[in-house]
Amino acid sequence: MLMRLNDLSMFVDERGNSDATPLLFIHGFPFDHSMWRHQMSHFSAGHHVFAPDLRGHGDTREVEHRSANVTVNTLADDLITLLDSALGNQSRLTICGLSLGGYTAFELWRLIPNRIERLILADTKAAPDTPEVRERRKSQAEQVAIHGARAISDGMLDSLLAPVHRHGVVGMEVRRMIESTDPQEITRILNALATRPDSTATLPTITVPTLVIVGELDKITPLSDSRYMVQAIGNTARLAVIPEAGHLTALENPSAFNTALSNFLALYQH
Ligand code: MLT
Repeated sequence: MLMRLNDLSMFVDERGNSDATPLLFIHGFPFDHSMWRHQMSHFSAGHHVFAPDLRGHGDTREVEHRSANVTVNTLADDLITLLDSALGNQSRLTICGLSLGGYTAFELWRLIPNRIERLILADTKAAPDTPEVRERRKSQAEQVAIHGARAISDGMLDSLLAPVHRHGVVGMEVRRMIESTDPQEITRILNALATRPDSTATLPTITVPTLVIVGELDKITPLSDSRYMVQAIGNTARLAVIPEAGHLTALENPSAFNTALSNFLALYQH
């Protein structure tokens, strides 16, 4: 459904019983809510699940004008507006963010820690971009400006997915999401990624139960980043390594992802 929230018409996939525990899924870049389709169908049985399209992605549109600058903080603010509108501003919920979704989840933790009951950080990292990664993003933005999103999709598929998934159904789905993203939006979000804050100092402030998930073949945010996060968060955090998956664990190995998430949620049922 489309929800009008401040300057946005935000697409939100919302399912499940509104009395059940809310669970928010935040997608990565440059994808949309559909990357959570296996989780939405599985977890809607026991939870009130939300998977929005972030600003700049999917079917979410800026209604009046395109804001010049988008940061990870803007994306987090958009989600707070969504939560206020859908659940009220006293609600507590579980947040599951993958990659850019994880960077946004750190921002949410800094902004509304009292509303977060549990956190799932999937295929993400606390550290900011290295100078090399910033350069790569700049060159991706240049290629996209000249040739469109197709200029970067092959390279992205190689770094995002385990080899076994690159040429199958998952590869097709991921290519569709990348290539249907507006090139100007890709440029804006690349800039948001490159300028995101360092969340390293946030890790020890996380006091809620946290599940860190990572694909065993993740090349973008490898296992070492996840191990570091678990250690820095401390004893409220646990790690799940997903076999046969790269950076997009939720799509590449949904049954292992869902099992890890179900087991974690079952530990902290009300
Ligand atoms: C993502 O999946 O959101 C991106 O890989 C994040 C990044 O490039 O840092």
